[in-house]
Amino acid sequence: MADFAVPPIRPFGIAFEASTGAVTRAGPVLTRKLADLEGLFQDGDAWQAVRTSDEVVYTVHSSPVPEVPRELPQSITTIYPGDVAGEFYMTKGHQHPDPQGEIYLGITGLGGLLLFDGSEYEWIDMAPGTSGYIPPHWAHRSVNVGSAEPYRFLAVYPGSAGHDYQWVLDHGMGARAKRLGDAFELVPFGRAPERSVGRAVTCGFAGM
Ligand SMILES: [Fe+2]
Repeated sequence: MADFAVPPIRPFGIAFEASTGAVTRAGPVLTRKLADLEGLFQDGDAWQAVRTSDEVVYTVHSSPVPEVPRELPQSITTIYPGDVAGEFYMTKGHQHPDPQGEIYLGITGLGGLLLFDGSEYEWIDMAPGTSGYIPPHWAHRSVNVGSAEPYRFLAVYPGSAGHDYQWVLDHGMGARAKRLGDAFELVPFGRAPERSVGRAVTCGFAGM
């Protein structure tokens, strides 16, 4: 299995395969199955019923750029279509222990970028060509809100940012994305403060 490179790293280009999310030059690949997502879905009984299905919810293909200070690692995340009791497949979500920003770029499919600062949440509709900006201090999770196609995006982030998954388990993400007919709705997270306010923010390249 490919691993991260050791600095100093010489300049290089990164090619990605839009149909698989694989990157070249390749670094580590992370695979999250339903069994890896304990505590994330609202309906714990429904998750228990499918946790042994071996179904892959998402993969993360990284380039060789390592997660170390001053480097800018990149990765392609692919979230497959699906849901658990109507709650769409999603990433675990995380907070950056070292509060720094991050950029996502939609590649295929339809998704959403859910952000939560501990008080309010924001939702950014993501599609091919849409860039979502994650400011420092905002926890972030990605969701596939499409019914058939994988949602795939490029992430570029400071190598020292880190990933705190426990913060999301402790605080939630302010809202849950659930199937509503052919579309989706955002349902306020049970543990979020009542003053929590969500609104959709769209930032696309089209026409700019
Ligand atoms: Fe991040």
